Amino acid sequence: MSAPSTLTLRRPDDFHLHVRDGQALAAVVPFSAARFARALIMPNLRPPVRTAAEALAYRERILAALPAGARFTPLMSLYLTDDTPAGEVERARASGCILGFKLYPAGATTHSDAGVTDIGRVHGVLERLQETGLALQVHGEVTDPRIDVFEREARFIDTVLAPVLERFPRLRVVFEHITTRAAVEFVLGAREGIAATVTPQHLLMNRNALFAGGIRPHHYCLPVLKSEADREALCAAVRGGSPRLFLGTDSAPHARSAKENACGCAGIFSAHAALELYAEAFEAIGALERLEAFAAHHGADFYRLPRNEGRVRLVRSPWEVPASYPFGTGEIVALRAGERIGWRIEAVERP
Ligand code: DOR
Ligand code: ZN
Repeated sequence: MSAPSTLTLRRPDDFHLHVRDGQALAAVVPFSAARFARALIMPNLRPPVRTAAEALAYRERILAALPAGARFTPLMSLYLTDDTPAGEVERARASGCILGFKLYPAGATTHSDAGVTDIGRVHGVLERLQETGLALQVHGEVTDPRIDVFEREARFIDTVLAPVLERFPRLRVVFEHITTRAAVEFVLGAREGIAATVTPQHLLMNRNALFAGGIRPHHYCLPVLKSEADREALCAAVRGGSPRLFLGTDSAPHARSAKENACGCAGIFSAHAALELYAEAFEAIGALERLEAFAAHHGADFYRLPRNEGRVRLVRSPWEVPASYPFGTGEIVALRAGERIGWRIEAVERP
């Protein structure tokens, strides 16, 4: 069978996206709105988005930053802290646009210092989440600096995630941006109500990409890129079509100066070509026919949202990613900057 030259999909959702705030927000959100119908917006601003009221105000700023005519729905997640009151869960549920709470183990990643220091501190909130059916979105890495950075996800499964799932047997959990064979096996073998997002970078690259010809700060994200065996396990899992796996880019913009730095920030910006990059990844593993369900069905179904109406059409038409994009007073270097991507968005039909 010859390779298709166009690909028409139901309009997809990005269930893990960082858009920041202010000028940075205005610079990046149009890229997502041009591709996705909805996105789950991460709450790791400074200060973090901790309450339903803060999330609703942030959501208004996102809507105000959209280009004229855009049809894009921000869905929100609240930042869980040691001090989150259990009553915030009910306020979140009542808002109608907050899908859950994000667990950042304190110190695990960018802007996580206000995160949870010990999972026992939030058991009351988890209890309420379990009762309401809202989800817990998890950054799944332990933070102990003695643990090898490549082992932190697997260690988190054993020491935090598995015990939480046992203690709260009806809690709905999204293991965000999984990167390892261990995480794939855990999610696919877990009880009902457990799912995971998978980023384009963890499908397309292994850790060699961090050191290709020199150190590559624009390939640095957290969880860090893993081994080829891990990448292959992720690819095999999405090729298998499990409804537990869905699209979440973790597109995380940082100014070039913050990335090309003696202590560069974690985060890969992929919103400029997110769907196109997934198309490349799925094609490389012979699974293009699986892309639509991964991008437009599984996540919506997990979150009990209607699947989107409308379609997006991709064409095989290589284009070169600009060396940088404007980003407030600075610029961002996007994934594949100065290189080619094989697919392009040709049309979006919004009902
Ligand atoms: O690489 C990352 N960047 N991982 C995260 O968990 C956070 C994100 C960010 O906000 O920059
Ligand atoms: Zn993230």
